[in-house]
Amino acid sequence: MSATARKTAPMPMDIRARKGGAPLVSLTAYTTPMAQFMDAHVDFVLVGDSVGMVLHGLTSTLDVTMEMMILHGQAVRRGLSRAMMVVDLPFGAYEESPQQAFRNAARLMRETGAGAVKLEGGMQMAETIGFLTQRGVPVMAHIGLTPQAIHTLGGYRVQGRGEDAAQMMADARAVAQAGAFALVLEKVPERLADRITAEVAIPTIGIGASAGCDGQILVVDDMLGLFTAFKAKFVKRFATLGEQAEAAIAEYAAAVRAREFPAAEHVFSDKAPEGGA
Ligand code: KIV
Repeated sequence: MSATARKTAPMPMDIRARKGGAPLVSLTAYTTPMAQFMDAHVDFVLVGDSVGMVLHGLTSTLDVTMEMMILHGQAVRRGLSRAMMVVDLPFGAYEESPQQAFRNAARLMRETGAGAVKLEGGMQMAETIGFLTQRGVPVMAHIGLTPQAIHTLGGYRVQGRGEDAAQMMADARAVAQAGAFALVLEKVPERLADRITAEVAIPTIGIGASAGCDGQILVVDDMLGLFTAFKAKFVKRFATLGEQAEAAIAEYAAAVRAREFPAAEHVFSDKAPEGGA
């Protein structure tokens, strides 16, 4: 069912059932108003740990905490009535053991109302994904460029080229077999993304991957032109809201300095008008 025709939020099993069907549409969100703007247009919203870089000015996602994910998850949840919400497990909240992952995933779901959590990693996270899904926590997996592993990956490079392709295919198979309901492929060569999509039984969600993936996701501030510190090749700016915001702020500042704002329609008289404020 298309996002616009839907009245209630899909469940992870509904997202999984969309494998090979009409493309799944997703964006990140971190605030209530942005969630409201996208609710009718996307199938699921990701409260990504990209929030650290996009809204908090951090230089990587490594310093993002559970408290930040909960605060932003709660804000986004208030803005959604039709799209499913997935919340990222932040760095350090799940890698130690399946038990640690369950504790933090359960807390995220309980305190934010998320329908699922996302975690980064392939084969090495398969045991944890199995542990979570067998205990009621739907998991979206994320392989390819996994920003939480930036220091071991050696930068924000394309992943899975050449001999690394076999390992990525194995990672995709492992997380699907472990029970993940969907798989994010970030910054992966197009042909490899297509092969993974053909091979695994769960929907692939591409970001810098391939139009052949079962769905697409972008960071909302990137596609709206609100985040301008840098632009990855895979980002298409569908708007330039950052430029518009700066121009509007400059116009406001000039109007205040020229005493043109507030104007007559923005101020109050001594007497209350008939039926007015
Ligand atoms: O944190 C995030 O925004 C993400 C997406 C880029 C998939 O993980």
